[in-house]
Amino acid sequence: MAIVTFWRGDQTWEMQAEVGQRIFDLAHQLEAPVDTTCNGVGSCIKCKVKISSGALSPPTALERDRLGNIFHITHERMACQSYVTEQDVKLEIPQTRKPRSRFIKRKSSN
Ligand code: FES
Repeated sequence: MAIVTFWRGDQTWEMQAEVGQRIFDLAHQLEAPVDTTCNGVGSCIKCKVKISSGALSPPTALERDRLGNIFHITHERMACQSYVTEQDVKLEIPQTRKPRSRFIKRKSSN
């Protein structure tokens, strides 16, 4: 058993989890706002979470293929490819980026 904590800003979601449970499934059980458009099959890469402390299972081949080795630097992992270990883990859910506005506000010239 391990304690898995998700956080974003000042909100937290926490639960005890069994070793081997998928982080993506836990987030959805807790209704933590981990993003997805592929529903956990590993194709959208929108489910990233960032490890604040603790550890997750080693990256899967699919995750290494999708993220490259950058997770060593960013500590970001794909929730649908990450599993609970015996260590408690704290995961930041990144803010979703708003799409850039197509219209640029121009300064008025006086
Ligand atoms: S949920 Fe789409 S890649 Fe993880």
